[in-house]
Amino acid sequence: MVGNQKLWGGRFEAQVAEWVEAFGASIGFDQKMAKQDLEGSIAHVTMLGETGIISHEESFTIKTGLMELLSELEAGTLNFDISNEDIHMNMESLLTQKIGPVAGKLHTARSRNDQVATDMHLYLKEQLHTIVSLLKDLRQVLVALAEEHVETIMPGYTHLQHAQPISFGHHLMAYYQMFTRDSERFTFNLQHTDVSPLGAAALAGTTFPIDRYLTSDLLGFSAPYANSLDAVSDRDFILEFLSNSSILMMHLSRFCEEIINWCSHEYQFVTLSDTFSTGSSIMPQKKNPDMAELIRGKTGRVYGDLLGLLTVMKSLPLAYNKDLQEDKEGMFDTVDTVTVSLKIMAGMLETMTVNKDLMETSTTKDFSNATELADYLAAKGLPFREAHAIVGHMVLECTKKGIYLQDVPLEDYKVQSDLIEADVYEVLDSHQAVARRQSLGGTGFDQVLWQIEKAKTDLLS
Ligand code: ARG
Repeated sequence: MVGNQKLWGGRFEAQVAEWVEAFGASIGFDQKMAKQDLEGSIAHVTMLGETGIISHEESFTIKTGLMELLSELEAGTLNFDISNEDIHMNMESLLTQKIGPVAGKLHTARSRNDQVATDMHLYLKEQLHTIVSLLKDLRQVLVALAEEHVETIMPGYTHLQHAQPISFGHHLMAYYQMFTRDSERFTFNLQHTDVSPLGAAALAGTTFPIDRYLTSDLLGFSAPYANSLDAVSDRDFILEFLSNSSILMMHLSRFCEEIINWCSHEYQFVTLSDTFSTGSSIMPQKKNPDMAELIRGKTGRVYGDLLGLLTVMKSLPLAYNKDLQEDKEGMFDTVDTVTVSLKIMAGMLETMTVNKDLMETSTTKDFSNATELADYLAAKGLPFREAHAIVGHMVLECTKKGIYLQDVPLEDYKVQSDLIEADVYEVLDSHQAVARRQSLGGTGFDQVLWQIEKAKTDLLS
């Protein structure tokens, strides 16, 4: 073969070796954006026709060819070829096979640099909407579960030590708040994704009288990028997506870690449904919380995707550099990971059984009511520091005797402080301890209900 037959082969005399070509190709992964690539081309060619840069007839022929490719893509009959390097050149080559040399007019006033950026904006915009909606599903599951468990008592922990009894509903609503912030972050991420790079061309814009507002509108973007160099080299919207996803995965991972603990023999607070558990190939008794462990484990790859792209970007001079081709696989991987993790999490929570009695019982065989006693004394006028010291001493005594504060007879309490009356036992009850924490945002039942009501209203919008 004489010269180089690539779309860009004019100034080349020799072929690229096959293995070198394979190194440079992205068709293996960027075909995920095949639909977006066609949509971008349809908008571009419509604009070329409207502005008179090409004739209406040419625009129509190209558009019809692109629409046919879109149907073939949906039918699964399009085949891509690695020798065409990426999705953009594959599509142009398929279009040429279909409609002949007029296909060559499609790339007027456009470069693959603005084309690939446009594809990624379109792709991520769609995915962000899906993720926000999956987050909403998860938040709905949490609110429903929290509502069922407003009065379910569990030990609240600090340092993984029993600290104070809390409502299980309150614990769940803490995650609701985290996922709400995640949702807000992804929604904000949409603003920077909803911008059109199309028409920036290779880097400097074009001499053709293009209409960037028209293509932006046709593609449903809110505005075109203001600077052509920025348009082709900006990947902040993907970095924002990857950092938002990292924070989300960190939240999911913390929750999974708790669920894994709660499933253990030591806690037995929850039982996961068989649908979300797996067994062991050797130990017949095992029922493992594999799905929760996997979400926790997959958090690592999402952090990796973020670090990967940050590193790709850190020394890139303006504007486009081929390094930017490395922006895709991490983004696709994170989209897949986040999407499936959110679905698994919602399903796992929806089908999980909460062992209410065990949860509550574990707050009656501990000292998580010690603060209640200190508060009781402080409320009767004793300086809190003194109350703290008295109760600390009593906890020590109880520990030596192997009893709990609620087992101490009133006479023994009186020895410590005559402020203590028979009503102390009610105060020491964990249900009461939770009910009485009515400070704003506290675990008191009314406060938890208030949070739930607010959440329900928010979820309506
Ligand atoms: N496959 C390339 C990418 O993903 C498309 C843009 C190529 N542009 C270029 N000037 N080589 O980034």
